[in-house]
Amino acid sequence: MTDRPKVFVARQIPDDGIAPIVAACDARIWEDELPPPRATLLDAVRGCAGVLTLLTDTVDDEFLDAAGPQLTVVSNYAVGFDNVDVPACTARGVAVGNTPGVLTDTTADLAFALLMAAGRRVAEGDRYVRAGRWKTWGPLLLLGPDVHGATIGIVGFGRIGQAVARRAMGFGMTILYHDVQRAQAAVEEAYGATFLPLEELLARSDFVSLHVNLTAETTKLINTEKLSWMKPTAVLVNTSRGPVVDPVALADALRRGIIGAAALDVTDPEPIPSDDPLLSLDNCLVVPHIASASRATRGKMAEMAAANLLAGVAQPQQRIPTPVNPEVYDPA
Ligand code: DGY
Repeated sequence: MTDRPKVFVARQIPDDGIAPIVAACDARIWEDELPPPRATLLDAVRGCAGVLTLLTDTVDDEFLDAAGPQLTVVSNYAVGFDNVDVPACTARGVAVGNTPGVLTDTTADLAFALLMAAGRRVAEGDRYVRAGRWKTWGPLLLLGPDVHGATIGIVGFGRIGQAVARRAMGFGMTILYHDVQRAQAAVEEAYGATFLPLEELLARSDFVSLHVNLTAETTKLINTEKLSWMKPTAVLVNTSRGPVVDPVALADALRRGIIGAAALDVTDPEPIPSDDPLLSLDNCLVVPHIASASRATRGKMAEMAAANLLAGVAQPQQRIPTPVNPEVYDPA
């Protein structure tokens, strides 16, 4: 018997998070590379006080029923939490934590890397060389748009969108943005950023970078119509969530030259099937959801996720450091 809180950690995360959890809890850690199958997850969370989840684990009423009424915290190892039914957790008094802030710059770094790689055809060039096709220096070989001095349209001007703007400033880019809410004048001024309706932003941008949360409103935000508003040379970068872009519409737009190129860190579905039409297109670059994948950042995310879990299961219960449903502590 142990009076240490029972917790389930749904994947191996860096030691910065595992060590404090193991020290304080009766912890079961899912060691496989792949997520626990649904039935295994539901079984593993039974009787837990806290669960550390990943974006691959759906937390809904079925999960909460399986866990039981003693569950006090779901700590999501991500800044995004579209895998969690937050109202369902709140209704049961379960705090939900995420890992905001620590991955902002790392994610913006990858967004910019994708922007540059897709624009300047880096992956295509690498494939060209490896295929033995490089015969000479060619005046017309693998031409792309300039990044410096181009116009970038940032859709979603929160922490990560603004971090992308900081990088764009270094490249002398004209910065346009769109968001549901216009930023404060001081923020616009700091980045020299111009707020535009989405249609105008898409029409004017050489590069479009997506940084919105996944919600009902942003699902398939970029569809056939929106793609048709973009320049035929434009590069679309998605490091937000896969379903924000309609993949069928995107493949069609890339194939028909409606837009120039796309670079995706996220896809719908994930992982993208190896026979997906997007993967047959040379002007589409895809990487496996690695925007936050620096050693330092994944370590900080682990620390934060552990801190949320441990505060949530503490006796007496503590307020978790970064709740996405603070109302759970202050019911109306
Ligand atoms: C997140 O945190 O939401 C990313 O997608 C993974 O780091």
